[in-house]
Amino acid sequence: MTSVRFDNRVALVTGAGGGIGRAHALALAERGARVVVNDYGVSLKGDQEQDDRAQSVVNEIKALGGEAVANRDSVADPEGAAAMVTQALDTFGRIDIIVNNAGINASDAIQDEPGPAYERHMAVHLEGQLLTVRAAWPHMERQRYGRIVNTSSAAALGFVQPNGTWFGSYAIAKGGVLAATRQQAGAGAGHNIKANAILPLAISRMVAPSIPGTTVLDYMERHTGPAHVALAAAVLASELCPVSGQAFSLSGGRVALLVYASPLGYANPDLTPESVLENWDQVMGESDEEHRLLNFYEAVDNAFEYTLMQRAGIGAEVEL
Ligand code: NAI
Repeated sequence: MTSVRFDNRVALVTGAGGGIGRAHALALAERGARVVVNDYGVSLKGDQEQDDRAQSVVNEIKALGGEAVANRDSVADPEGAAAMVTQALDTFGRIDIIVNNAGINASDAIQDEPGPAYERHMAVHLEGQLLTVRAAWPHMERQRYGRIVNTSSAAALGFVQPNGTWFGSYAIAKGGVLAATRQQAGAGAGHNIKANAILPLAISRMVAPSIPGTTVLDYMERHTGPAHVALAAAVLASELCPVSGQAFSLSGGRVALLVYASPLGYANPDLTPESVLENWDQVMGESDEEHRLLNFYEAVDNAFEYTLMQRAGIGAEVEL
């Protein structure tokens, strides 16, 4: 079996002081990468906290024999994003991999948008990812090598939270990440820069409070951890990454392509609103078995159920 290694590669992982980011940093370092561990050290809603979680992950990596440095800049600050990349270059001489993971969830309701959390979500999730990539891009282009892993979310696809509330600007920013990933993939194609997105699901401080009931939470803590996400994402961060511009649903050891699809549809140069309605099964691809694909909502719901319920054998007890 081919081994996925990162020897001589330098990675920047944002928001890597805890949760999924920490797992990315550890997975890359364990396989040979030198890592800039960034974390601004904020609460779930994005308020500054006094801690140095980036340094503690650096200490963990060093204890395992790896190489890493801490960075405490904010990805949402253009100077901070540039400083992270400069730190990678100054410390390790290059920048090969960016895992854009930093995130907050200051949930607002969609019907209240743009509310107070709107700017924060856009700044951290969307602009933060763009700023970091922009800072690293010239170096990746020059060395003709780059791997970008952007973190989106099932929330971007219209995913209701387990507590029944709909996401607001968090989901909108995460949708922007999918679009940005496809554009980065296009721009990077001639330079061996590959960009892909992940839609993770893993128990962390962001997700744990919204899981209904201790049965599911207990199960997820054991089987749906950040390391599952990081080990799958490592493929996308590696030299062997087979694709660019795609997105993958990652949770609990499951890895699946997110399909951007359209059926053959209904085509008629003389269409009328009435004929569109009459041929709605073609519009929806329901009459077209060969091209029939699950729509986004179904795909994401199925993934979530698969992870939570089927393998746990606890579906009957849980009402989402
Ligand atoms: P987490 O809350 O455990 O970790 C996020 C980290 O990002 C924190 O340590 C925080 O200090 C850092 N951070 C926040 N703003 C920052 C900024 N401006 N600059 C630098 N660092 C900053 O969250 P978790 O669950 O590990 O999430 C990681 C990513 O995955 C986020 O982008 C999140 O939106 C996304 N995600 C997570 C899911 C899950 O199931 N845990 C589901 C879908 C998406």
